[in-house]
Amino acid sequence: MPLVQLGGARALVTGASGGIGGAIARALHARGAELVLTGRREEQLADLQAAVGGEVVPLDLAERDGPARLAEAAGPVDVLVANAGLPASGRVEDFGPDEIDRALDVNLRAPIQLTRALLPGMLERGRGHVVFVSSLSGKVASLRSGIYSATKFGLRGFAAGLREDLGESGVGVTVIFPGFVSDAGFFAESGVKLPRWVGTRTPEQVAAAVIRGIELGRAELDVAPLGLRVGTRLAELAPVTAARVQRRLGSERIADGLSAAQREKR
Ligand SMILES: NC(=O)c1ccc[n+]([C@@H]2O[C@H](COP(=O)([O-])OP(=O)(O)OC[C@H]3O[C@@H](n4cnc5c(N)ncnc54)[C@H](OP(=O)(O)O)[C@@H]3O)[C@@H](O)[C@H]2O)c1
Repeated sequence: MPLVQLGGARALVTGASGGIGGAIARALHARGAELVLTGRREEQLADLQAAVGGEVVPLDLAERDGPARLAEAAGPVDVLVANAGLPASGRVEDFGPDEIDRALDVNLRAPIQLTRALLPGMLERGRGHVVFVSSLSGKVASLRSGIYSATKFGLRGFAAGLREDLGESGVGVTVIFPGFVSDAGFFAESGVKLPRWVGTRTPEQVAAAVIRGIELGRAELDVAPLGLRVGTRLAELAPVTAARVQRRLGSERIADGLSAAQREKR
């Protein structure tokens, strides 16, 4: 499969106004990509544009025609990084119907619709790459994460099917699975403290994985310390036992803290 050369490639980054998206945009810029930056908050996008150049398309991906308008405004794109996402933490009965729709729309519907809109151009040119930013919650669910996990598991399923369909077309598909991310982004902003034995990764490490995924054509990359990656693998094999162990280790305090702190992001 011919891999995308990032120098001179046109890359669309959703959620560029956020913590991880900003780091991804800077990493792509450092590799010579031309950027299209999107999100809703124009001030953050303008600050990022001042650092990395490119074009800014401010837009709400939860709007019905948001993804189509974004694809139209972005024009021919070689690399799509579908990174925009809401934390959608909390018990399902505490969500309003619109809040559930917004989480599904931003986290899952928009990446699928953007892929649909941008893929024909990539296939015509015989090269391209689509990166989905999922989460370890896209492999293993935990307390108060049902809606978020539904979207992040969904991205993994979509990407796996898409990868099969694309075969040797020259268009690659990568899914990134970060664990807890420090310094910036919606976990860091929540202020919730993790037990000492649970490590984190930085937005720059997530961004480095995005670059690796594109340049090496990798299908799936976890971005988390070894302990969390091993724990995730074990939990995939034995989810009920793993959930019991997580509760014993205090996952309820963390889940409740996140749901309270992230309520405004619904
Ligand atoms: N932080 C973590 O620990 C962590 C761990 C695993 C996975 N992730 C994933 O990493 C990605 C980025 O998260 P983050 O931590 O960087 O969070 P963040 O700082 O809150 O950024 C989220 C981004 O999504 C955009 N967004 C949200 N709603 C939108 C909407 N309706 N329309 C358009 N854009 C919208 C936000 O832009 P505006 O607010 O400007 O609209 C923002 O740029 C997400 O997919 C998240 O699930 C994060």
